[in-house]
Amino acid sequence: MRRQREDGYEVSDDPARLDLDTIHGFLRTAYWSPGVTRETVDSSVAGSLPMGLYAPDGAQAGYARAVTDRATFGYLADVFVLPEHRGRGLSRFLVRALLEHPDLATLRRWMLATADAHGVYEALGFTPLDDPDRWMVRGPRPQVSGDGQA
Ligand SMILES: CC(C)(COP(=O)(O)OP(=O)(O)OC[C@H]1O[C@@H](n2cnc3c(N)ncnc32)[C@H](O)[C@@H]1OP(=O)(O)O)[C@@H](O)C(=O)NCCC(=O)NCCS
Repeated sequence: MRRQREDGYEVSDDPARLDLDTIHGFLRTAYWSPGVTRETVDSSVAGSLPMGLYAPDGAQAGYARAVTDRATFGYLADVFVLPEHRGRGLSRFLVRALLEHPDLATLRRWMLATADAHGVYEALGFTPLDDPDRWMVRGPRPQVSGDGQA
């Protein structure tokens, strides 16, 4: 899947296009994955449906991935747009490409966690949990302002 905006920004699900040095460079400093190893990033790409965001010159401008069975459920993870490309609606362009990916058309539910970017996802139909008492989580707990798994 490939989509291009009029200004030349592009999204692609081709894993071969991903600049994994840039993606790892961002994720190892992200609040939700500090110090993540290159091996873990490589494995996470291989086990997900990745979506790369590319600037008009072809450089990696952002990234997101769906952790999914490609049938019923998807978890949106590792969403970022590099600082020099922010504020142009690119996160919405990137996430929408995953939500509308043909392989994910039958998903019944998407989930994500975010510390502070709720506004990005609300515009794409995400809402807070209606029934948090039905949900459970295992793993690291929020530190100060949320555990921020993206
Ligand atoms: C969050 C992030 C992906 C937004 O990327 P972006 O391309 O600048 O966002 P967009 O330009 O597509 O903005 C889309 C909308 O979300 C809003 N928005 C952007 N960043 C936001 C944030 N951190 N919190 C709340 N709303 C935000 C914008 O105002 C815009 O709304 P509008 O169209 O009504 O003006 C980017 O700032 C980023 O990579 N941050 C660091 C990593 C991160 O926090 N990732 C998200 C983890 S869940």
